[in-house]
Amino acid sequence: MARILITGSADGLGRLTAEALQGQGHDVIVHARNTDRATHLRPLTDHGAGIVIGDFADRDAVRRIAAELVEQAPLDAVIHNAGVWSGRDVMPVNIIAPYLLTALLPLPQRLVYLSSASHFGGQPRLDGVDWQGKSGGSYGDSKLYVSTLAAAIARMYPEILSTSVDPGWVPTRMGGAGAPDSLELGHRTQEWLATSDDPEARTSGGYWHHQHRQEPYPSVHDTAFQDRLLSALADETGEHLPRR
Ligand SMILES: NC(=O)c1ccc[n+]([C@@H]2O[C@H](COP(=O)([O-])OP(=O)(O)OC[C@H]3O[C@@H](n4cnc5c(N)ncnc54)[C@H](OP(=O)(O)O)[C@@H]3O)[C@@H](O)[C@H]2O)c1
Repeated sequence: MARILITGSADGLGRLTAEALQGQGHDVIVHARNTDRATHLRPLTDHGAGIVIGDFADRDAVRRIAAELVEQAPLDAVIHNAGVWSGRDVMPVNIIAPYLLTALLPLPQRLVYLSSASHFGGQPRLDGVDWQGKSGGSYGDSKLYVSTLAAAIARMYPEILSTSVDPGWVPTRMGGAGAPDSLELGHRTQEWLATSDDPEARTSGGYWHHQHRQEPYPSVHDTAFQDRLLSALADETGEHLPRR
């Protein structure tokens, strides 16, 4: 049994991931943006799930959540799932919050970051990025960054399994009712990467879609871009990834 945090689990893929992992007997920690949204998680918390609450657009809330988790039993895995498609919260929620949590929590054995096929449309540029959510950011850029973060962590910490996942275009609130891909397949890969002893699931650094490893946009594996991204995120947040 693993202890697993799933961010953004009040709805969509995060919710389905948390339900599936709890159903498999894992010790899940769910996350909701506020106490209202937390009420939607009662079916899980009533069955023993832990919960953390906070708006990921607010860095102080992310820091408070990290401080709460540091006081608890260590996590075996984190699935960085919370995400938004558009608006001012794109960079704060899609890349700043997962970076901050990664930097502030003890590194777990496995890290899974939700990316997207939209990352292929992202630009490996770091000038003028709206890290603070003042005007809005590019979803494709945010997902390129998060896949790059996953690959950088895999390179820096060989003992950790760090991956990113394109879940497909699936019918959640973000994907829309007409999304063509399978909702079931949309969360299975994250669960598998977070928990399975299957040798394939125990390879680090990959970008995955429906349990198949794919080639991401080349910048994801460009170590110079990885280093520039980590440096920009450290400058922006004042937090560095743990030294080894
Ligand atoms: N659906 C797709 O077709 C698709 C395709 C590619 C990638 N993805 C990625 O998959 C992940 C899950 O997406 P989804 O389709 O399940 O989207 P969703 O149904 O919109 O769910 C997003 C989750 O993130 C949470 N969240 C958003 N902003 C937050 C904030 N400021 N603070 C805390 N939590 C916040 C939401 O909480 P609330 O419910 O309270 O808003 C919700 O639980 C995302 O990272 C997304 O980019 C999805």
